[in-house]
Amino acid sequence: MIEQETTPRLLIVDDTPANLNLLEEILSKENYAVRALPSGKLALRAAFAKPPDLILLDIKMPNMDGYEVCTQLKADERTRDIPILFISALQEVDDKVRAFEVGGVDYISKPFQVEEVLARVRTHLQMRTLQQKLSTAKQQAENANHIKSVFLASVSNELRDPLNSIIGFAQVLASAEQLPADLRPPTQHIQSSGEHLLTLINNVLDLSKIESGEMEIVLDTVDVNALVQEITTIFAWQAEQKSLALSCHTSLQTYLYADPKRLRQVLLNLLSNAIKFTATGHVSVYADYQDGYLNLCVEDSGQGISTEQQQEIFKPFTQLNVDPYKNQGIGLGLSITRKIITHMNGDIGLNSDLGKGCRFQVKIPLEPANIPYSKGIEKLAVGDMQAISVINNYPLVWLAALEQAVSLGESEQITDLLAHYDNEEMTQLQAWANQYAYQRILKWIAQAHLNAEHSR
Ligand SMILES: Nc1ncnc2c1ncn2[C@@H]1O[C@H](COP(=O)(O)OP(=O)(O)OP(=O)(O)O)[C@@H](O)[C@H]1O
Ligand SMILES: [Mg+2]
Repeated sequence: MIEQETTPRLLIVDDTPANLNLLEEILSKENYAVRALPSGKLALRAAFAKPPDLILLDIKMPNMDGYEVCTQLKADERTRDIPILFISALQEVDDKVRAFEVGGVDYISKPFQVEEVLARVRTHLQMRTLQQKLSTAKQQAENANHIKSVFLASVSNELRDPLNSIIGFAQVLASAEQLPADLRPPTQHIQSSGEHLLTLINNVLDLSKIESGEMEIVLDTVDVNALVQEITTIFAWQAEQKSLALSCHTSLQTYLYADPKRLRQVLLNLLSNAIKFTATGHVSVYADYQDGYLNLCVEDSGQGISTEQQQEIFKPFTQLNVDPYKNQGIGLGLSITRKIITHMNGDIGLNSDLGKGCRFQVKIPLEPANIPYSKGIEKLAVGDMQAISVINNYPLVWLAALEQAVSLGESEQITDLLAHYDNEEMTQLQAWANQYAYQRILKWIAQAHLNAEHSR
C-alpha cells in the first residue's frame, strides 16, 4: 500500500507472532499504514521516533508489559495524546480497570472478533481527528483573541492622548469668563462625555491587557490593613453625600506579599459599586488573613442582585437595567475585577438577596511577609471613620475625595471640592486644576499628609 500523508498510521504491539500477523493483515486490508512490533521496548522506540495515530497494545508481554509501555507513552509529550487500545486475554475486572487507569481509551478481549477490532479502531481514529480539529480551532481562536486584545490595547493607548486634549480644552473653554452663557452647558457636556469615554478606554485597555496576558502581577510587601483603610477613606466623601454608614474592619496581623496596585483596583471597583448601588443603609468592608488566604468582603444594603443575574454581572458590558442606576458606568468593573482575582489564583463569590443588598467575597492565596506589625497602621483607627482627623485644617475625607477626583481626572468634581473652602490655597489649587497641573495637586495632597505625620 502506498502511504499517503492522510493515511492513519497504526502501531500494533504483541509478543505472540500469530496475533501480530493476524492483526497486521486485517488492518492493512483496511488501508491503514500498519507497523507491527513484538515487544514493548521496540514499540516505545518506534512511537517516540515517529508517533502513530493509534496503538493496539497487548498487556502480557515479557520484560515490559503493556501497562508499563502505556505509562511511558503517556508521560512523554510526543506520544501523550495517542489513543491506546489494550487488546488482551486477561479477563479480570481489575486488569481492565488498570488499563484505563494507566491511560488506555478502550479494551478489547482476546480472542477478538475482527469486526469489533475494526469498528473500535475506526471510532477512536475518528475521535482523535475530531479532537485534533477541536484543539486546532481552540488554538486559532486563542490566537485571534490575542491579536484582538493587542489591537485594542494599542488603539486605546493612541486614543487617550487626543482625548485628554479634548477634555482639557473643553475645561479651559468652560472656565473662560468670555464664554457666552448659552455655550457653557454644551461645553460642559463635551467635557463630561470626554471623561466618560476616557473611563471606558482605560477599562478596555485594562481588559485587553489582562486578556493578552500582558498584565503582570508585581509582588511587594503590602500593609493590607492600611491599604484597605485608605481605599475605604477615598469613598468616605461619597458615602457622606448619600448618608451611608461606611465602615472598615481589618484584622490582619501580618504584612503580605501581594500586588498593591491590583488589590487597590479590586477594592476600588467593589467599593465604588457598593456605594453607587446603595441608596440607604450601610457599606462595610472586611479584611482578614487566615490559613494562607487573604479574605476581603464588601457588603452593602443596596438593591441586591437576583440569583439568575449573579453570574451575568461578571461578564463584560453587563449592566442590570435598574432605575435610577441605568447608564451609570459601562459594565466593565466586575469583569476586570474577576479577571484580576483569577490571575492571582483567587476567587470571587457573591451572596445576595434582591432588595436586601450584596456581599462580595474575595479569597486570594498570599504569602505572609516577614515584617513586624508596625505601630504605624494603628494611626487610622480600625473601622472608625469618626476618628479620622483633620489634616492642615482639611478633613481627611475631603482630601481623599480630592485625591480620587484628581487621579481620575474628574475636573467637575475637583472644582466642586475646591469650592468648599474659600481661601488662597484653594484659588491656587483651582488655577493648577485649570492648567491640568494635576501632578502638582497630588504633590500638595502628599505634602499635607507629610505635615500631619510630622506634627503627630
Ligand atoms: N453592589 C452592587 N449592588 C447591586 N448591583 C450591583 C452591585 N455591583 C454590581 N452590580 C450590578 O452589576 C453590574 C455590573 O457591575 P460593573 O461594576 O461590572 O459595572 P458598572 O459599575 O455598571 O460600570 P463600571 O464598573 O464599568 O463603571 C452593574 O451595572 C449593576 O447592575
Ligand atoms: Mg462598577
